[in-house]
Amino acid sequence: MTTDAKDASTSPDGHDWDALAAAFDDEPDHGLRDPAVREAWARRLRSWLPRTAGDVLDLGCGTGSLSLLAAEDGHRVTGVDLSPAMVERARAKLAGRDAVFLLGDAAAPPVGQRRFDVVLVRHVLWTLPDPGRALRHWRELLRPGGRLVLVEGVWGTVAPVGVAADRLRELLAPVAASVRVEPLAQDVSLWGREVHDERYAVVALV
Ligand SMILES: C[S@@+](CC[C@H](N)C(=O)[O-])C[C@H]1O[C@@H](n2cnc3c(N)ncnc32)[C@H](O)[C@@H]1O
Repeated sequence: MTTDAKDASTSPDGHDWDALAAAFDDEPDHGLRDPAVREAWARRLRSWLPRTAGDVLDLGCGTGSLSLLAAEDGHRVTGVDLSPAMVERARAKLAGRDAVFLLGDAAAPPVGQRRFDVVLVRHVLWTLPDPGRALRHWRELLRPGGRLVLVEGVWGTVAPVGVAADRLRELLAPVAASVRVEPLAQDVSLWGREVHDERYAVVALV
């Protein structure tokens, strides 16, 4: 996660995600180029997703790194991102896979009446103007027995940004039947270095 580039030209969250796309995968946890980091994310993601192959909606999919891990495990992926440059990279990364990528707003994904087994969102909820509303909408996109898999955190020390796990629990209370929070900051293999801020995943069954 980086939060240093500020430009309001692309997104209401103050990031110019199109401009950031070219170097996005340079971060170890973004591009997953280091086999050890990749394997760490693959193992975690496998444990968060259903065992049987299903339909995964990856919102704010970026360059598609988690989409690719899900597709490699047999899941059918639909990715949505508001940045054309991110979508272009995701399409290239998953060329030939059972995956489609759409331009659109994660808070109101352009998926019509389609329903999914999983809504997967990494490092995106914190950018949305009304996260509670987005969560309520995402629940409506799930099939019965579906789940939200949310990977979030609070980054930085001087001017921290993000969603703390306790806050996300509160937001999920009216949305999910069960919420499991998994701390991730202590697992160096996920980040390729030591990190000292709050990082976690949530698996919320609806
Ligand atoms: C920090 S990146 C995370 C990318 C990806 N989920 C990952 O974990 O590698 C945030 C992504 O969310 C996208 N994004 C930000 N706000 C969005 C919105 N409202 N709707 C759709 N995508 C959004 C950005 O374009 C960017 O690709």
